[in-house]
Amino acid sequence: MSRERLLLSDVGGMHDVKSRLETSFLAPMKNPEMRQAFGKSMRGGLLLWGPPGCGKTFIAKAVAGELDANFYHVGLSDVLDMWIGSSEKNITQIFDMARRNAPCVLFLDEVDAIGQKRTQLRGGGGMRGVVNQLLQEMDGASNDNEGVFILAATNHPWDIDSALLRPGRLDRTLLVLPPDLPAREAILDLHLRGRPIEKLDLAKIAKHTNGLTGADLALVCEQATEYAMTASIETGTVRPITMKDLGRAVKDVRPSHGPWIESAKNFAMFNNDDGRYDDLLAWIKQNKIK
Ligand SMILES: Nc1ncnc2c1ncn2[C@@H]1O[C@H](COP(=O)(O)OP(=O)(O)OP(=O)(O)O)[C@@H](O)[C@H]1O
Ligand SMILES: [Mg+2]
Repeated sequence: MSRERLLLSDVGGMHDVKSRLETSFLAPMKNPEMRQAFGKSMRGGLLLWGPPGCGKTFIAKAVAGELDANFYHVGLSDVLDMWIGSSEKNITQIFDMARRNAPCVLFLDEVDAIGQKRTQLRGGGGMRGVVNQLLQEMDGASNDNEGVFILAATNHPWDIDSALLRPGRLDRTLLVLPPDLPAREAILDLHLRGRPIEKLDLAKIAKHTNGLTGADLALVCEQATEYAMTASIETGTVRPITMKDLGRAVKDVRPSHGPWIESAKNFAMFNNDDGRYDDLLAWIKQNKIK
C-alpha cells in the first residue's frame, strides 16, 4: 500500500485520457448524491489498456490521489495459485482488505493473466471459479464496496475473459497510448527532477522522441545521467546533465512498443465488430503505422 500525492495534473499531456477519466469516472465518484439522483450504480470498474510502459499504473495512482484514497496494486498473476480454491480465497482476502481500508483504489494489474493462465493451469475450465469470485466481489449488491474504486489494467485486452467485460463489470475502458508531445516533456522533467542539470530545452528533446514510451523516456534520462556521472567521476567535480548527454541518450534508446502495436493491430482489425478497438485503429491510422 502506498499513499501517493500524485494527481492528474502530474500526468503530463494526454488531454483526452484525462478528460474522459474525469467525466466517466472521477466526477461520478466524487458526486454520490448525483449518482443517487440519477439512479446510477457504481458497480464495476474501469479498464485501462494499451502498450507497456505508457502510463497505466501512473494514471491509476493519480486517480487514487484525486479521490484522496489509498492505493493497492495487485498483480493478478501473483494471486493465481495452482491449488484449487486458493486463487478464489486470495481474491476474497484482497477485496476484504480493500473494504477495510476504504476509501481506496484497488488496482488489478494484468487482468488478462486469468485468461492466459486458464490454459496453463488445471486444464480447461479451472479459472471459471476465479472469474466468478472476482465478479462476486466486484458486485456492489452483495458486498459493501462503498469507497472501493476498482481500476484494472492490461496490455492484452483480447485475452480477458469476456465475462469480466460485460455491463456493470469492467465495462468502461480507456486506451492509454504512447505519450504525446506535452506528455513526453513532462515525463522527461519528472525523471530528471532532483538531478544536477544545466539549462535544458526539454521541449526540443520531446520533439525528437516521438514513438518512445514513458518507460523508454525514463531510460533516456538514466542513460544521460550515466554519461554526466561518468564524466564527473573522471574529473572529481559534478558536471551537470547537458543537452548533449540527452541527445546522445536519445540515439541509444530504441522505441519498445513496436511488437505490441503489431499484434494489437492484428487483433483490432479482425475483432472490431462492436467497435471496441475504434480508438486504437484511429490512432494507428493517424500515425500512419504500417
Ligand atoms: N503522462 C505521463 N506523465 C508523466 N509521467 C508518465 C506519463 N506517462 C508515463 N509516465 C512515466 O512513464 C513510466 C511508465 O509508466 P507506467 O509504469 O505507468 O506504464 P504502464 O502502462 O503501467 O506499463 P506496463 O503495462 O508495463 O505496466 C513511469 O515511470 C511513469 O512515471
Ligand atoms: Mg503498469
